[in-house]
Amino acid sequence: MNNANLYSSSNSLQKTDAKYVIDNYFENIKWLSNGGDISLDIGCGDGEITSELLLNNMPNTHGMIIGTDISCEMIKHATIAHQNTKLQFRQLDISTKMLPKQFSGKFDHVFSFYCLHWIQDQRQAYQNIYDLLKPKGDVLVTYLASNPLFSIYESISKLGKWQSYMQDYDKYISPFQKSLYPEKELKQILKNIGFEVELCKRETRTFVYEDLITWRKSVKAVNPFIERIPESKRDEYIDEYLEEIIKRDLISENNNQIQINTPYELLVVYAQKRM
Ligand SMILES: C[S@@+](CC[C@H](N)C(=O)[O-])C[C@H]1O[C@@H](n2cnc3c(N)ncnc32)[C@H](O)[C@@H]1O
Repeated sequence: MNNANLYSSSNSLQKTDAKYVIDNYFENIKWLSNGGDISLDIGCGDGEITSELLLNNMPNTHGMIIGTDISCEMIKHATIAHQNTKLQFRQLDISTKMLPKQFSGKFDHVFSFYCLHWIQDQRQAYQNIYDLLKPKGDVLVTYLASNPLFSIYESISKLGKWQSYMQDYDKYISPFQKSLYPEKELKQILKNIGFEVELCKRETRTFVYEDLITWRKSVKAVNPFIERIPESKRDEYIDEYLEEIIKRDLISENNNQIQINTPYELLVVYAQKRM
C-alpha cells in the first residue's frame, strides 16, 4: 500500500481504532516531568494519525515526533501534508536487522498503529523497538491479531487466476492469525526481550462498512496485492473478494444498503524498557 491519497480518504477503520486506543490507553504514557520528550511513530502511513491524533493529544511540553514508514511514497506525502515544527518524517523498516545508528536509544516513547501485523518476525520488531527506546522509555502499540480478511487472502491466493499476484500472501497475514492466545505468545516475546509488560491484551471489535462503495475503496487502499494486478482486472479481483465475504456470512442489509461487517481481534500493548 503506497497510495497515500487513497489511504487518506478510506482509513476510517484505522482512525477509529487509533482514537479508541489513544482515548483509553494514553493515560499510561510516562511523559517526562521536564518536557522535551522525543517520540517515534512506526508505520505512520500518510501521517494523519501522527499529526492529528498523536501530536494533538500530547502535553504541550512534548518535544518532537518522528513519523517513520517503510514506504518512501508515504513519507513524501506525510512530509508535505503535515508540516509542523514538532514533526519530522523519515523512512524506516521496523523489521530491519540493522537499525540506523542515529535512531538507537533516542526515544522516550514509541507508538505504532495498524502496522505491526505485517511483520512476520515479531521478535525482531520488538527487539528494534527496545533498542530505539531510552532506558525507562515506553511503547504503546495496536495492531491486528486476526481478521477474516487475512483468511480471504489465503483463499483467493489459491485460485489460479490470482495466484501469480499473491504467491507471497503469507507475508501479509498477521503472524497471530491462527493463534489461540496471541496475547500470551506476545507477552512472552516482550518479556524475553526485557520489557516490563504492563498491558498486553486482545480485544474483540467489529467494524461496519456502511455501503459497498466505501468498502471497495478501502480494499483498494490497503490490499497489498492490488497494485500488482493490471488495472483492467482490479474490479474483478474485488468481486472475487466480495464472494469470499458472502461465503463467510459477513454481509447484511440496512436501509436498502449492503453493509460489510468485519469482526476482528486487536492487540494492545503498553510496556516499558528497564533501566
Ligand atoms: C495501515 S497503514 C497504517 C498507517 C497509520 N499508522 C494509520 O494508523 O493510519 C500501515 C503502514 O505500515 C507501513 N509498514 C508496513 N511494513 C512496515 C515495516 N516493515 N516498517 C515500517 N512500516 C511498515 C506501511 O507502508 C503502511 O504505511
